[in-house]
Amino acid sequence: MENIDWKSMSFGYKKTDYNVRCYYRNGAWGEIEVSSSEHIQLHIAATAIHYGQEAFEGLKAFMGQDGKIRVFRWKENAARMKRSAEGILMAEVPEELFGRAMEKAILLNKRFVPPYGTGASLYIRPLLLGTGAEVGVKPADEYLFMIFVTPVGPYFKEGFAPVDMLITPGIDRAAPLGTGHIKVGGNYAGSLTALKLAHDKGYASALFLDAKEKKYLDEAGPANLFGIKNNTFITPASPSILPSITNKSLQEIAMSMGMKVEVRPVPLEELSTFEEAGACGTAAVISPINRVVNDDTGELIEFCKDGKPGPISVKLYEKLIAIQTGDAPDDFGWVNMIG
Ligand code: PLP
Ligand code: COI
Repeated sequence: MENIDWKSMSFGYKKTDYNVRCYYRNGAWGEIEVSSSEHIQLHIAATAIHYGQEAFEGLKAFMGQDGKIRVFRWKENAARMKRSAEGILMAEVPEELFGRAMEKAILLNKRFVPPYGTGASLYIRPLLLGTGAEVGVKPADEYLFMIFVTPVGPYFKEGFAPVDMLITPGIDRAAPLGTGHIKVGGNYAGSLTALKLAHDKGYASALFLDAKEKKYLDEAGPANLFGIKNNTFITPASPSILPSITNKSLQEIAMSMGMKVEVRPVPLEELSTFEEAGACGTAAVISPINRVVNDDTGELIEFCKDGKPGPISVKLYEKLIAIQTGDAPDDFGWVNMIG
């Protein structure tokens, strides 16, 4: 076992032993190759590095108390990566190839899967790049699909403790008819100035408004937003939001707990009516929101009067984690054992 302080890990990159790669050339995917290098060789005119023809995914594997490794809903990530590929005209990675590459990447780095009970997990990062050379703006004819893994702790340093967020009406992450709904690198480049503004002012993340009207809530930085009121789980519907697999899972858990679920545009004014609010995603899991401040108006909304996550957020969080680690039965059929 690696000499790693699993319990105090943050969400960062840590070198593991191997990554896996597969090249698309002449209209077909090749064999999966194993590499111990942390570097890739790219043509200087590769479309990924000039025109952002690149998509990625993020999912996690967990060590159970029974010593088995479980991956959470990987077929959803494979499907989303296909939609990302389709959205920016890249070669699509078949589900079967995604699954095989993922299994290989995990098993080759088994010693980096954080032990049960540490709160850490193995983050799996599939990546699809346009590698073919072009100077005109057009799709490449060659692609690289690769997966690396890295053990991680909580995305926000607060862990499962409430964070503060800054509404940044002056900066958009993605346009309604743009690429916000797929997981392409450009969206994240577009969010950096808002995230920096939020961090510089002491907030954990930026909260985006809809880019067209600035009337509705959109994404919570690199995560979806949800609110709780009247026994209802409410999450914004918007064409520029990335459909989160965590969010979809929380909706199903909420329904199984007897809650109602509403996926609809959420006006900014409604935020103050939520009893609880949170950000959710693979990296963020659930990050309860403490305060939200509007950078334009200075308006402050507070959710956690005592600085603690609300009771429903706690229940949702605990159930999700229990399913992911195998502590609770996999009633929804979300978990796959690896190895
Ligand atoms: N929204 C954005 C912009 C993200 O980057 C992510 C992370 O993947 C999410 C939402 C959450 O999605 P998921 O729960 O599928 O990880
Ligand atoms: C994830 O939650 O997996 C993400 O991709 C978020 C972020 C680290 C980009």
